[in-house]
Amino acid sequence: MQYQLDKDLALRERAATAFPAGIYGHMSTTPLPQNYPQFIEKADGGRIWGYDGFEYIDLLCAYGPNILGYKHPKVEEAVRRQMALGDCTTGPSAIMVELAEKMIDNGQHADWSLFCKNGSDATTICLMIARAQTGRNKILMAQGTYHGVDPWCNWSRVGIPDEAKANLITFKYNDSASLEEAATLAGDDLAGIIVTPNLHEVFVTQELATAEFAKKVRSLCDKKGAALILDDVRCSYRFSLGSTWETLGVLPDLCAMGKTLANGYALSAVTGGDAFRDGAAKSFTTGSYWFSSVAFAAALATIEAIEAEDAISRMHAAGTKLREGLAQQANSYGFTLHQSGPVQMPLFLFDGDPEFRLGQAFCNEAMKAGVYLHPVHNMFICAAHDKDIAEALQRTELAFEAVKKQFGTAA
Ligand SMILES: Cc1ncc(COP(=O)(O)O)c(C=O)c1O
Repeated sequence: MQYQLDKDLALRERAATAFPAGIYGHMSTTPLPQNYPQFIEKADGGRIWGYDGFEYIDLLCAYGPNILGYKHPKVEEAVRRQMALGDCTTGPSAIMVELAEKMIDNGQHADWSLFCKNGSDATTICLMIARAQTGRNKILMAQGTYHGVDPWCNWSRVGIPDEAKANLITFKYNDSASLEEAATLAGDDLAGIIVTPNLHEVFVTQELATAEFAKKVRSLCDKKGAALILDDVRCSYRFSLGSTWETLGVLPDLCAMGKTLANGYALSAVTGGDAFRDGAAKSFTTGSYWFSSVAFAAALATIEAIEAEDAISRMHAAGTKLREGLAQQANSYGFTLHQSGPVQMPLFLFDGDPEFRLGQAFCNEAMKAGVYLHPVHNMFICAAHDKDIAEALQRTELAFEAVKKQFGTAA
């Protein structure tokens, strides 16, 4: 199939008028290479197809939610079954309780669960519960972390009053001294520390929390009587079915999960321990679609499939194969890649490429060869990619070759 983008570009033109500035948020292609394909007609496993019929191995996985592979048969069967019974109804179905019990079983920290729709809902609810439980206001968060789009955490200040961020104090990720300083500034008013298992800085790098730092966050929260809030929205289910810091031996008081919980059906969750049950019980939170049963059915089927199909190890193996293959290819063409973060959430940038010209050219060439990737943002591996990585690497080889022709070697 010939690479072409005629229909994609026509859709983009219509979108430019139908929306205030075209497709928005993280799906906006404004900062991306020219002609970055934007619209997706269909998806299956680890692959997507644009409206011009061209197929890509998809290394973005919907920016995370696709964890098992698009249209996973067990998830789709559970969705169809529940859809036939009802979705958004006047009361929740039994399946909501079943899912909460399953998440409590899976999370060592979890004694209760709440469901919502987006990661931003979950992180904001965690702050509310931490404040309700402790009767305090200040929250510590790491510089450069993303917790969603609600006013307290939106990276943009446009349309957001300063007061929305008034109770936030920042610290440097993985830096215990900086964390201590921020806690001192909060004094007796520290309600919680919100932290991600992995710092992802678009354009720059990714950095996993060290066990030492995770333990420091835990001990500081214990000392101050504050909530350790783990924002697991980006990492959920790619490391563990419980909270990601279980793998470091550290348990949160509150955990925000999202993206992957229902293999792409809209669902996020807050899980917490008994010490924060009262705060959660007295906080008011809800949404018209938060009790819809289809997403719960999809979530239960997703958990079962992750367990039955050894999905977490498969993602790790596929991510490792991709990282090693890319490093070897880059090397053979005279380039060096800075690859960072966990292999199942890879970010790679070209060394010596401050304006991202190599990265953008590589992205364009990879698209033409049939690999959908992002030049400056971390990507996501799904379990179905174990069938795709060898072919993805054949395609990226073509991209390296083309970039080498355009630029010569990186030096
Ligand atoms: C760490 C983290 N927290 C929160 C969010 C917000 O999630 P959502 O986009 O579902 O609102 C994201 C989204 O990328 C995230 O990566």
